[in-house]
Amino acid sequence: FSASKTFPQEAFLCYFNVAPNCSASLPRLQPEPFHTVLFHPWIQPGVVPRPFPEKYRDKWDCNHVRMPCSPENLYPVKTPGSGRKVQSRWELIQKTLSAPIMSSWDLEEAILNYNSQYSKRWDFRGLHTFFTEVLNYQNGAEFFSSVLPGIIDLALHLPDICTQPIPLLTKHRNHSITLSQKQIASLLANAFLCTFPRRNSQKRDSEYSTFPDINFNRLFAGVKNGVNKRGAEKLKCLINYFKRVTGKEPTGTVTFMRKYLVNAPDWENSTQKLSRFQVSSKGVIEVEGAGMLQVDFANKFVGGGVLGHGCVQEEIRFVICPELIVSRLFTERLSDTEVLVITGAEQYNEYCGYGNTFIWSGDYIDSTSSDSWGRKYTQIVAMDATHFYKPEQQYQYHFVKRELNKAYCGFYDDTVAPEHLPAIATGNWGCGAFRGDPRLKALIQLLAASEAQRDILYFTFGNEELKNDIEAMCDFLLHKEILIRQLINMLKLYSRQQQKGQLVVRLFDFIYATFSDFNTDTEEETDSQIT
Ligand code: AR6
Repeated sequence: FSASKTFPQEAFLCYFNVAPNCSASLPRLQPEPFHTVLFHPWIQPGVVPRPFPEKYRDKWDCNHVRMPCSPENLYPVKTPGSGRKVQSRWELIQKTLSAPIMSSWDLEEAILNYNSQYSKRWDFRGLHTFFTEVLNYQNGAEFFSSVLPGIIDLALHLPDICTQPIPLLTKHRNHSITLSQKQIASLLANAFLCTFPRRNSQKRDSEYSTFPDINFNRLFAGVKNGVNKRGAEKLKCLINYFKRVTGKEPTGTVTFMRKYLVNAPDWENSTQKLSRFQVSSKGVIEVEGAGMLQVDFANKFVGGGVLGHGCVQEEIRFVICPELIVSRLFTERLSDTEVLVITGAEQYNEYCGYGNTFIWSGDYIDSTSSDSWGRKYTQIVAMDATHFYKPEQQYQYHFVKRELNKAYCGFYDDTVAPEHLPAIATGNWGCGAFRGDPRLKALIQLLAASEAQRDILYFTFGNEELKNDIEAMCDFLLHKEILIRQLINMLKLYSRQQQKGQLVVRLFDFIYATFSDFNTDTEEETDSQIT
């Protein structure tokens, strides 16, 4: 299943709020205590934002990204006799990467030169087969003669491009970082060349154990039998990205906002009505959800397996829009009431297929317009569902509440009036790798969106039966004028009965049966029956 080009998005555009049409004007861009802006905040369309401050400033501490170009980035060397001294790792990186690199073997040698402690552990077989068996000679030669020198140049100019310390987006803190696309490109060039210090340890108690990995070494690994196909297609996406950003400097900006929900809604007493909910079996979030808040079915370590073998919704989104990958550099594992919202990431790649059939299908020119901060009108919310190893547990009310609060955290925005909020483009969140029930998740997302006063466009990813089921349920709830608290209490009752072992009936049948005689005039009576 892949994006249908004939999907009539226009139908939804006149029905739902879509950016930029619905957007309110933004306040002036400026750094704030809760918002780090890594460049001079004067945006001129088509001009690369100037890094701020002018000169590199370093902060080598546990609250900021430890930069490869930091003077404190040192490594020990043996001296004649039995002595040891420390040397600048950045100087070693500069020296190593300034020598010619003509093949994947040269590249392996270079990367291991400044990662010598991993020379026995890191595997580059995937990288070698990529150049010998996947790419043709011409594309391989182009990579080593023009793309790689561009990547190295971007990486080595890091201290001129990212001059301000980058704060870590740590647990239970609302904070945003806005970077220029060029700054992101320089950071990703360093990630490609595996220069980030302290990010390679697999140990549980290592400094960055609560952060995703960022160096690309796992992407270069081989697989047992032959070519690492998923890795190869991801590499094609990333190389195309680097080809684009080294060919012509990108001029936009991207914001990464960590959002922490302090006060959860009082679900059981919410008298809010249900929002509008449209279901489509055709289309995908990233295409037909243009201009809406697009849900990334995330891992708590954002990006999930993007640098490894993962190749489902989140990983695909991250490789077609590689700027998303930089979030892994500074975003600590999300906890239950946190999400990451990314505004402005550009799409550089087209794809088809999914999982094992995923392939890069070419360069993509993203013509999405930009806001006054220089960000494309593309907003993505990374929110991680619960992974249900035992799917029958998901109906337990505390799990339902966890998912409700997570989704609400992703959907609410009290900084603008509801009429300026784009609708939400989502689908089977948590229902693939994480084994959730899409019927339950559709209701949970409907409830969270209703509390946040936003509409939903739900993609069932080709599943016609699911589309019909969800559509019928939503029509039923709307017709009955069901309120949030009534549906919540229904889920609570379902959970209770299921736990008592009294339940064999499926969720939707239970809802139909229990609500079928419901009449809003006798709401109180029915409510007490439900609770
Ligand atoms: N648009 C709409 N629906 C989609 C799309 C799309 N582009 N892609 C997939 N679906 P999954 P999860 C549907 O398994 O269960 C990753 O490794 C399709 O029906 O990606 O939340 C993350 O890093 C698919 O089965 O999400 C996490 O570790 C369903 O969405 C983990 O997977 C769920 O997609 C999250 O797993």
